[in-house]
Amino acid sequence: MFGDAAAYERFMGRWSARLAPGFLDSVLGDAPGDGPGTVLDVGCGTGNLAAEVLARWPRTHVVAIDPSPPFVAAARERLVPGRARVQVGSALQLPEARGTVDAALALLVLNFLPDPARGATEMRRVTRAGGVVGAAVWDYGGGMAMLRTYWDAAATVHPGAGAVDEALARPARAGGVEALFHGAGLEDVGGGLLEVPMLFETFDDYWDPFLLGIGPAGDFTRELDDGGREALRAELHRRLGDGPVEMTSVARWVRGVVPG
Ligand SMILES: C[S@@+](CC[C@H](N)C(=O)[O-])C[C@H]1O[C@@H](n2cnc3c(N)ncnc32)[C@H](O)[C@@H]1O
Repeated sequence: MFGDAAAYERFMGRWSARLAPGFLDSVLGDAPGDGPGTVLDVGCGTGNLAAEVLARWPRTHVVAIDPSPPFVAAARERLVPGRARVQVGSALQLPEARGTVDAALALLVLNFLPDPARGATEMRRVTRAGGVVGAAVWDYGGGMAMLRTYWDAAATVHPGAGAVDEALARPARAGGVEALFHGAGLEDVGGGLLEVPMLFETFDDYWDPFLLGIGPAGDFTRELDDGGREALRAELHRRLGDGPVEMTSVARWVRGVVPG
């Protein structure tokens, strides 16, 4: 699902890049002028969040980890040498020592972890006392219009779609990430919403990225036979028209502080 960096950028990276500035404002808006010393980007993908951190705070260092070697290669290529260390790794076993980063952030990642509670606990473990743990997850069940439209259409033409709807993941539900952060022992847990306006110039600009096999929706699209895929395309086209397609997608951000 996460193996082709260019395809990821076309499907989701173009939107996560727009989410990153508001996410940083929300979770690290109170950082001192020079910014945090070290930020850990957990599940960095192609590096959209890490790039925003480095551009915003010229003295901040980034450690970025992701299990996908092609994504790590793409992130490494674009991030400032000397201030970024990018490596293959998992949120379930972060390659950092206890209390060594000022902030551990995960943008659009927690819902993909087989054990999100362990991921949250790991993020807390590597963050220093007083440091920030932050995450954002799309509101798959409601406000994430791009994917909500997809899964609603899929459920009408393919009965099996409901069982793999991304809204089912625990971190995707309202209060899900807050519960994980409380469970990890974080304090001052709170959050809010982030909106990303999305403009698809044509219907195909919306549809074609689903053919690239990225994420659960890409996976579902690819697994359909030709007739099933055409039925889904037709249902989405019926709902959205020829385009341009304008929608606003909503993510939830949550932050917590490591107790002293
Ligand atoms: C939707 S992408 C988000 C990537 C990036 N944070 C962004 O906002 O563009 C989800 C990412 O989670 C990563 N991921 C999946 N399992 C993971 C794990 N066990 N630990 C860390 N990251 C993981 C994937 O490789 C992928 O890069």
